[in-house]
Amino acid sequence: MRSLLPKVALLIPAAGSGERFGAQVPKALVQLNGRTLIEHAVLNLGATATQIIVAAPAGYEENFRKILGDAVTVVTGGDTRTKSVKIALESVDSDIEFVLVHDAARPLASAELGKSVIEALASGDVAVIPALNVSDTIKEVDASNYVVATPNRERLRAVQTPQGFARETLFKAHMQNIEATDDGALVEAMRGKVKLIAGEVRALKITNPEDLATAMKYLVPDQASDIRTGVGVDAHAFSSDPKRPLWLAGLLWENEIGVDGHSDGDVAAHAICDALFAAANIGDLGSNFGTSKPEYAGASGAKLLSETLNLVSAAGFKIQNVTVQIVGNRPKIGARRLDAITEISRALGGAQVSVSATTTDGLGLTGEGKGIGAIATALLVRDGR
Ligand code: CTP
Ligand code: MG
Repeated sequence: MRSLLPKVALLIPAAGSGERFGAQVPKALVQLNGRTLIEHAVLNLGATATQIIVAAPAGYEENFRKILGDAVTVVTGGDTRTKSVKIALESVDSDIEFVLVHDAARPLASAELGKSVIEALASGDVAVIPALNVSDTIKEVDASNYVVATPNRERLRAVQTPQGFARETLFKAHMQNIEATDDGALVEAMRGKVKLIAGEVRALKITNPEDLATAMKYLVPDQASDIRTGVGVDAHAFSSDPKRPLWLAGLLWENEIGVDGHSDGDVAAHAICDALFAAANIGDLGSNFGTSKPEYAGASGAKLLSETLNLVSAAGFKIQNVTVQIVGNRPKIGARRLDAITEISRALGGAQVSVSATTTDGLGLTGEGKGIGAIATALLVRDGR
């Protein structure tokens, strides 16, 4: 599958000094909610690209390498934005088809926006830029601040990054050696077709210190409305086949008889998946992995947990914690509690997990020793990366 995806390079001009912002450090190193702007940009858009190149201010290259790690190529930027992009272009791998150019000054542009740009490129456009309608009326003025024109607002757009280009288009555009404040303008200068797609408000540009406060609104969840709980329950009967292995809480239990079911029958994992789906309000185990999705038939509990994590993340949530209580006479969970927690947590990307167990005083399916049940809860928070 992977080879069918277009090869994309993400170029991030981050070499500006941030004069208008006026910090002691270059603007890309300014902190926003505990991370630098450049880290936010790489974290948010890096997943859309096979290669990431960052243009750093001269003298700060090692600093950038340290915070961004080995997956990012750091080059020394130039004295204008256009020059920084041109320098970064020299490091683009030969097999790259599309190039996204993205300002470090727009730390919160989302991967979804990057994907929309790439999709438009894949469908044949050679230059694609995200844009928003403008709400202010915009005047063109002369050097003495007298109005020379009032363009019709209906036809004006405010453009953002990431801007995407077919490789050759961007290389040619930069060969013209002209200056502009975005790369789209360079393509226009050579009469290339530049397509606008819908931008996003959260891709706002950090120019002045007060812009950080606006950006923070996207990062700090509204505690009252952005925490969600969910509950999930599952139960399976012990198999009549004494050789059936028992999988529970992501672990194989030697010398125990397994439960029936068309997956591995891991009731703890299934209950957690259902709790997570419920908290995110995106259906349940059946609707996400049921018989209409044969690829999940027989899937392990760990695999279902990882897939659930992907779906919950895609819905915009991160896991605060999950709990699961296993209900049954056997196996005895206590001695392997830590292994179970570790296994489940690993499948959930390191989430905080607790595992407990109980019997039911001889009552019901589990009390009579006919099977195992599990009850899980999940707490999600809206992801504010
Ligand atoms: N940029 C760059 N090289 C330059 C100038 C700017 O890579 N010589 C980058 C900035 O780091 C930023 C993006 O281009 O990510 C957009 O520029 P802008 O927001 O204007 O940032 P600065 O130039 O740093 O800010 P200012 O104009 O206020 O000095
Ligand atoms: Mg600038």
